Amino acid sequence: MQNLVIAIDGYSSCGKSTLAKALAKKAHCTYVDTGAMYRAIALFMIRQNVTRKESIIKELAQIHIDFIPTEEGQHVTLNGKDVEKEIRTLEVGNRASEISTIKEVREFLVAQQRKMADYGGVVMDGRDIGTVVLPDADLKLFMTARPEVRAQRRYDELVAKGEKPVFEEVLKDINERDYRDTHRAESPLRKADNAIEIDNSDMTPEEQLKKACQLYDETFKKLYKSIFGRDADSNVYYD
Ligand code: DC
Repeated sequence: MQNLVIAIDGYSSCGKSTLAKALAKKAHCTYVDTGAMYRAIALFMIRQNVTRKESIIKELAQIHIDFIPTEEGQHVTLNGKDVEKEIRTLEVGNRASEISTIKEVREFLVAQQRKMADYGGVVMDGRDIGTVVLPDADLKLFMTARPEVRAQRRYDELVAKGEKPVFEEVLKDINERDYRDTHRAESPLRKADNAIEIDNSDMTPEEQLKKACQLYDETFKKLYKSIFGRDADSNVYYD
């Protein structure tokens, strides 16, 4: 049986990618960070100084996004260049949130994201994975955490990178991004009906990974039984 397809959605800075990366490693799946794809498009538009919607749509034909394995894990590439570091700024994150409201941008990326999951064995995280990109995913998780907790995590990340953020601005930015992500007309962020919600405000990364692994294991066994009509051989399907 092939490995499962896991969809992880949730708000900005609530630890989705940390969990998705760790779960993918444990379950021997490929990790796909769809936020990085929106960020790569945003970076392209910032560099080319493209701001008008019509121009953004036209420029999509010039963009090729991919992922490459590196010693630090998977990195996103923009037209063949590793841009993992450049996309992780507040400016690119905000622009990504803006351009992600454009229908054509979403269609461009959703088609690629679906292809990446064609052969199973994928953990994909984003905002619309369980609802739009992979509605038939074997397991859907929806991550939440209180805005103040998320702002503190984001603040700590920025400080660790040598930036000098102001906490109130980081919190404001998170609240604005939440509003945009949940109120846009195209594929707004929402919990899929069959997604399992995990509020990790008061959980350590280890605790949330343990919970996700248990859910992965339960899902695998249930699916195995429905296909083969008997219990799976092993007790756990992750390392
Ligand atoms: O997860 P992130 O912060 O790297 O995502 C950056 C922006 O991209 C986020 O504000 C919303 C958008 N996004 C989206 O609309 N759909 C996705 N599947 C992933 C990200």
